[in-house]
Amino acid sequence: MPKSEVKTSLLDNMIGVGDSVLLEPLTEDTFLENLKNRFDHSEIYTYIGSVVISVNPYRHLPVYTPEKVEEYRNRNFYELSPHIYALADEAYRSLRDQDKDQCILITGESGAGKTEASKLVMSYVAAVCGKGAEVNQVKEQLLQSNPVLEAFGNAKTMRNDNSSRFGKYMDIEFDFKGDPLGGVISNYLLEKSRVVKQPRGERNFHIFYQLLSGGSEDLLKQLKLEREFNQYNYLGLDSAKVNGVDDAANFRTVKNAMQIVGFMDDEVELVLEVVAAVLKLGNIEFKPESRVNGLDESRIQDKNELKEICELLGQDQAVLERAFSFRTVEAKQEKVSTTLNVAQAYYARDALAKNLYNRLFTWLVNRINESIKAQSKVRKKVMGVLDIYGFEIFENNSFEQFIINYCNEKLQQIFIELTLKEEQEEYIKEGIEWTHIEYFNNAIICELIENNTNGILAMLDEECLRPGTVTDETFLEKLNQVCAVHERFESRMSKSSRFLNDTTLPHNCFRIQHYAGKVMYHVEGFVDKNNDLLYRDLSQAMWKTNHVLVKSLFPEGNPAKMSLKRPPTAGSQFKASVATLMKNLQTKNPNYIRCIKPNDQKAPHIFAEALVRHQVRYLGLMENVRVRRAGYAFKQPYESCLERYKMLCSQTWPHWRQGSRDGVKVLLTELQIPPEEFSYGRSKIFIRNPRTLFELEDLRKRRLEDLATLIQKIYRGWKCRTNFLLMKKSQIIISAWTKRHFQRKKYLQLKSVTLIIQSYIRGWKARKLLRELKHQKRCEESATTIAAYWRGFQVRREYRKFFRANAGKKIYEFTIQRIMQKYFLEMKKKLPSMSPTEKTWPPRPYFFLDDTHTELKRIFHLWRCKKYRDQFTEQKKAIFEEKLEASELFKDKKALYTNSVQQPFQGDYLEISKNPKYQKLNGAVEEKIVLADVVNKINRANGKVAPRIFLLTQSNFILADQKSGQIKSTIPVMDITSVSVSKQTDGLFAVHLKEGSTAAAKGDFLFTSDRLIEIITKLYRTIFFKTNQKINVEINNEFLVQFNQDKVCVKFIQGAQKNGNLPTCKRKNNRLLEVTVP
Ligand SMILES: Nc1ncnc2c1ncn2[C@@H]1O[C@H](COP(=O)(O)OP(=O)(O)OP(=O)(O)O)[C@@H](O)[C@H]1O
Ligand SMILES: [Mg+2]
Repeated sequence: MPKSEVKTSLLDNMIGVGDSVLLEPLTEDTFLENLKNRFDHSEIYTYIGSVVISVNPYRHLPVYTPEKVEEYRNRNFYELSPHIYALADEAYRSLRDQDKDQCILITGESGAGKTEASKLVMSYVAAVCGKGAEVNQVKEQLLQSNPVLEAFGNAKTMRNDNSSRFGKYMDIEFDFKGDPLGGVISNYLLEKSRVVKQPRGERNFHIFYQLLSGGSEDLLKQLKLEREFNQYNYLGLDSAKVNGVDDAANFRTVKNAMQIVGFMDDEVELVLEVVAAVLKLGNIEFKPESRVNGLDESRIQDKNELKEICELLGQDQAVLERAFSFRTVEAKQEKVSTTLNVAQAYYARDALAKNLYNRLFTWLVNRINESIKAQSKVRKKVMGVLDIYGFEIFENNSFEQFIINYCNEKLQQIFIELTLKEEQEEYIKEGIEWTHIEYFNNAIICELIENNTNGILAMLDEECLRPGTVTDETFLEKLNQVCAVHERFESRMSKSSRFLNDTTLPHNCFRIQHYAGKVMYHVEGFVDKNNDLLYRDLSQAMWKTNHVLVKSLFPEGNPAKMSLKRPPTAGSQFKASVATLMKNLQTKNPNYIRCIKPNDQKAPHIFAEALVRHQVRYLGLMENVRVRRAGYAFKQPYESCLERYKMLCSQTWPHWRQGSRDGVKVLLTELQIPPEEFSYGRSKIFIRNPRTLFELEDLRKRRLEDLATLIQKIYRGWKCRTNFLLMKKSQIIISAWTKRHFQRKKYLQLKSVTLIIQSYIRGWKARKLLRELKHQKRCEESATTIAAYWRGFQVRREYRKFFRANAGKKIYEFTIQRIMQKYFLEMKKKLPSMSPTEKTWPPRPYFFLDDTHTELKRIFHLWRCKKYRDQFTEQKKAIFEEKLEASELFKDKKALYTNSVQQPFQGDYLEISKNPKYQKLNGAVEEKIVLADVVNKINRANGKVAPRIFLLTQSNFILADQKSGQIKSTIPVMDITSVSVSKQTDGLFAVHLKEGSTAAAKGDFLFTSDRLIEIITKLYRTIFFKTNQKINVEINNEFLVQFNQDKVCVKFIQGAQKNGNLPTCKRKNNRLLEVTVP
């Protein structure tokens, strides 16, 4: 809830007066009336200045919710209605902000609500201090230590169902931020007599009932326990069950708490075993047994219980049994063993049970301390919470009550010292105008108890250590002697006769007028309890167990560490620890919670006025109010006041060079605080009204905020600047590094590239060199090889002949030479004739000469032909050429050809020049005559033949009359286009003329001649020589001729010849001329 929404304030809806200082008029009655009024309206808290009075409501009030915690968090003490949270908050904040160690002193009689108050303070502090996993664990452990210690150290008494039977002081340690670091618990004198005996209507420590009610069947079986309380002598029967208390559920809570605090499972087991053993010890009973020598002896009645205890503790039964029967006293190195009678045996048993339990409790506290102790070694701020057993008055008060009440006296003393005495003295010392206020100072009672020479505790110690018979009565006598005159000491036996007739004071009692009332103590048991003796046999027996925990609880049982020195008495131990506690408290800033018990019935809504009045009186509350009313709410040395508020004044901030008193004066004047609100002491400033202080605090807070903003501003500026410079520097470094990195990379790349290139070049050079060298070497090697081969060859050639291996080849070559020689000589003899037509050739003598032989034949034939050709003249050569021409034209084409082969071509058969008959003709022929013969010209019209001279010159062929030699026609050879003949043996031939030429006017010529082959061959050759063109020679049995305008077919048919070899021609029609050939 935001603070602005909180509506409650000290003055809002106030029931009665929240701060008794404001009561008007102030009397005891109005004070009580105010308390009652508020109590009736469920306002259980009331202030006296900064002291909180808490009246036990005996019911649950809805004022401890988380919302309430938030409401009171960081609020000024007087701002809201009175609450224990306001005190806790004030203490926590001044611890955190002003670095002052705090202690919270909770006082009040048994059942007044001290333990509850201490838990409320702790839970509030836990709720408002730092958070976080680690811190939460510390807080949880600190809070959970309570249920554990309450289970083992609290019990139901007549006054309180959850009465603390031990004193507890817990230091909670914080770091500078106000986060809890851990804690330390100190415990004071557990009321261990309760273990073996409880007054009527009271119970033993809670843990026994919790274990039996809440332990599982298995657990009980393991611990050899029965569930029923009445099975155990040590458990008071009449009030075993407490209304509204669920022991079983509490057992679970305790186990859970132990786990959170950090107890291991096996540790819990060990603890419960000890608890069970203590419980069972009570069931061991003894019976008397007389011995012959008259000494009393005891014996254990039923050894079963003993056996089970020994099993639980891992103990040898005989050892424990002996320890219950004998007592060994060691004096001057001499051991004397005496038997124990029944009473002594019971005493020994109970002593063992009490000791076992007491030591277990101390062990638990230490174990918890181990868990919750602060881990870090940093400087710690401390908040101490003191919850000590309250002042007690029972019907039968013994040593324990005496001790408890002594402790309460001491606390009252410290309260008086700090709030009443010191304060008033201070006013005087500081020169403040002051009228003294009377109050009762209990220092005198403290003196009575703790004085080192004649205090009751000193007397008791003296009595305990005195040789001779010492009883409680002798102790009382001593008291009577020494303390009788003391105004606060009363006894029937005392020398002062005042009490001789006081029947309310029995003979074996003494009475002390405590600050809180008169308490009568029975001396019975004082000496014993102070001695706190445990027979050595028992501690040794315990040391001998196999139980690790029990063994560690009895270190003095170790024979090696045994000492004859007496341990300090319980009283002196307690006195010493209380003195340490007081010293410790004095170093801290005290915060008081004064608890008041409204009724004896533990009932809500009942405000027993007389009871409360009594408490108000003995607590000195009225005096407290008066001192506060007359005095000042707040005082502070000038130095610290100036230090704290100097920022509120421009003159004192930031530095004040003169005296701090003047500084404070300047400060308060500038702030315009009314002068009646404060007084200047010698060394301190006194502020009357808390409101003034709060105003100052508020101003300071606001100013601090401004200053914080200023500091923040400067700091941020500085931080930004530093950061910027750092960044700049970093940027330069980074860029330098980056550049370096890239350059380096580049360089390395270049380097590697260069290296590669270099290596390639070197490699290339090297390879080249290598190649050259190899080549050189190869050349050298080759030269050597060639030389070697050459020399080898020469040598071999030179020497081959001497080698048998070459003989075969030689013989072979020789043989072949011989054979060839013979072959050629033989061939010379066998050569055939030189005629080119000769076909014969001698047979081949050897197979291998096949090719040679054939080649030789060919060569010989060519040579023969050449020889033959060489005999020819030019004339003869021309004749043969003609013959060859004739052969090419007609061979195998015309049957007449074979006849012509034998005939020599004479050409000029007529010898015109010689024959006078043809003189004229001869004269007409100018050129050389190629051929002159008589042929038969076939008449074109009828096929009749007429002889004609056929004369062929180099450019013409001429037809002339046979008889007269008259030229009939001259035809230039160029006009001849072709010649046609038949395939038969006839001599008919046609000469075709070029169309349109003069010679061709009558058409083509048909002739017959026996010398057809010669005529056509010569004609063919003459035309070739003249025109360089080869005329066509058609050889066919049917061909066309051109007669005048007609194309006439000349057809050859075979038939009988009438006129020899001459063919018979018959013109059949215009188109056909039939030629009959043989
Ligand atoms: N603030 C409270 N609200 C409700 N009940 C309370 C409160 N304070 C005390 N009680 C009741 O009173 C009982 C006794 O209180 P508490 O145990 O604190 O007394 P005590 O002063 O520690 O006594 P003793 O000296 O015997 O240890 C508590 O068990 C509880 O029932
Ligand atoms: Mg208590």
